[in-house]
Amino acid sequence: MALEDQERIIILDFGGQYAQLIARRVREQKVYAEILPFDTPLAEIKARQPRGIIFSGGPATVFVPGAPKCDPGVLALGVPVLGICYGHQLMAYLLGGKVGPAERREYGRTIVTVDEPRGILQDWERQEQCWMSHGVEVDEPPAGFTVLAHTATTPVAAMGDFTRNLYGVQFHPEVVHTPKGELLIRRFLYDICGCTGKWDLGSFAEEAIAAIKEQVGNGQVICALSGGVDSSVAATLVHWAVGDQLTSIFVDHGLLRQGEAEQVVTTFRKRGFKLIHVDARERFLKRLAGVVDPEKKRKIIGEEFIRVFEEEARRLGRVDFLVQGTVYPDVIESGTATAATIKSHHNVGGLPEKMNLKLIEPLRLLFKDEVRRLGEELGLPEEIVWRHPFPGPGLAIRILGEVTAEKLAILRQADAIVTEEVRAAGLYRKVWQAFAVLPDIKSVGVMGDERTYAYTVAVRAVESTDGMTADWVRLPYEVLEKIAARIVGEVPHVNRVVYDITSKPPATIEWE
Ligand code: XMP
Repeated sequence: MALEDQERIIILDFGGQYAQLIARRVREQKVYAEILPFDTPLAEIKARQPRGIIFSGGPATVFVPGAPKCDPGVLALGVPVLGICYGHQLMAYLLGGKVGPAERREYGRTIVTVDEPRGILQDWERQEQCWMSHGVEVDEPPAGFTVLAHTATTPVAAMGDFTRNLYGVQFHPEVVHTPKGELLIRRFLYDICGCTGKWDLGSFAEEAIAAIKEQVGNGQVICALSGGVDSSVAATLVHWAVGDQLTSIFVDHGLLRQGEAEQVVTTFRKRGFKLIHVDARERFLKRLAGVVDPEKKRKIIGEEFIRVFEEEARRLGRVDFLVQGTVYPDVIESGTATAATIKSHHNVGGLPEKMNLKLIEPLRLLFKDEVRRLGEELGLPEEIVWRHPFPGPGLAIRILGEVTAEKLAILRQADAIVTEEVRAAGLYRKVWQAFAVLPDIKSVGVMGDERTYAYTVAVRAVESTDGMTADWVRLPYEVLEKIAARIVGEVPHVNRVVYDITSKPPATIEWE
C-alpha cells in the first residue's frame, strides 16, 4: 500500500512539543500520523483524507487576540476530532462553549471523576488519574456536547458530541502520567475514527524501497555514510532498492571513536555495499593545527568534509541523487511555524546545495525510535542501531583547546573505557550518550612514589529523549569507580578522572 493510501490521522500543531509526542502515540497504535501547522488551509487537510484529526496542546490562551486558531471548517468536515488541552479549549471556543481562566491552575497528577464512561472514555473507572497542565478551562461545553468528566476544580475535563464525533480532553492522554491515556487514544483511533491499524515498519520498508526504485530509475546515487543510525538505515534502504547504483562514501576524518572506522567499513562491505573509504585523517589534523575556538573547529571540519566528499563524488563521474538521513523531527522543526526553533548545529554531513543533486530522504517520516526499529528489521547490527548519537565534528569538540594526535589517542582510549564499562553494567541503551572529554587541564598526582603532572579526563553521561534537554545520569558508584580506575591505570598521561554532574540546561551535553 502506498503511503498516500494509509489510514491517516492529522495532528494540528498549536505549539510547544506536544504534537510530536501525540504523533508517536498514534503511531504506536499502528496508525500513521502526520503533523501539520495549525493554520494549514482547509482544502489541504481535506485533500489528505484523514480518518481523524487531533488538535494538540499549546502554550497560548485561546481568548487572547492572536492566539493560534485553525479554520473552524475543520470541525465541520464530518471527520472525528479530538482536542487535547489547548485543543480542547479551542474546540469549545470555536463551537460557542464557554472558556475562561481557571480559578485555580491545575498542574500535575490530578484525579478526574468520570461522569459518562462512553466514547473515548469507554472502560474508564469512576475515578482515574490524569496529567493536567492548564490555567484556562472550559466552563460550559458547546451545544450538542455531553460532559464526560470533571475534576474538583474543572467542570469540563472531558466532553464529547456523539453525533458529530467531536471530543475534547483537558488532560494530556499522550503522557505516561495518564495511565488510561493509551486506551483513550486507541478508542479514538479504532472505535471513533474506524482505523484498522495497518501502519508498521515492515510495510514501511517495502513501500520505501519500491518508491526509491521508482525515483532513481537507472540514475546514480551517492551517500555520506557516517555509521550513525540515521545515515546507516537510510543507506540500507537505498542499497536494497538499487544495489550498486549506490556508492557510499565514508570519510574518516580522524576524529572518530576507537575502532569506529573499521567497524563501519566492515559492516557495510560485508553487506555488499559499494563503499569508498577515504582516509582523510592527516588532512583534517593539519587544518585543525593551532585552532582552539570550538566554532572555528566546527567550521573547518564542516568545510573540509564537504571538500573531501565533493572530490570523491567528482571522481565518480555521473551522479544524480544524494541520500540523506533526515528524520521527522528535522522536517517538523524546519517545516512548521509553531514548533520552537531548535539550535542549528553545523552538522558534518550537511552537504552543499550547489552539488545540485536530487535528494532521497527515506526516513523523513520517521521518529528516531522508529528508525532504530527499522534498522533492526533490516538486520543492521546492534552496535549501529543502538549507537549513541555522536557529533559530526567528533572528538574535536571533546578535546578542549588544540586538537593533536597525542590528545586524540588519549581521549579515544579513555572514551572506549567509558563505553565498555557502561555496556558491561547493562546501561548502554538506557543512556542517551556516555563519553569522555579531555579538558585542557593538567594536575598533580602521585603514582607509585612518583609525582606526576598529567591530564584530567572528564566523564559525561546523560539521559535525554532528543538532546534538547538532558539530565546527568546517576551512574552507580561502582561503575564510576571502575571507569576512573581503568582510565588512570590504562591510559598514559592521565592521572585524574572527574564526573560531570550538570544537566542541560544550564550546561550543554558536549563541552564545546
Ligand atoms: P549540546 O552539546 O548542544 O548537544 O547539548 C546536543 C546534541 O547535539 C550533538 N552535537 C552535535 N552534533 N554536530 C553534530 O552533528 C555538532 O557540531 C554538534 N554539537 C553537539 C551532541 O552530541 C548532542 O547529542
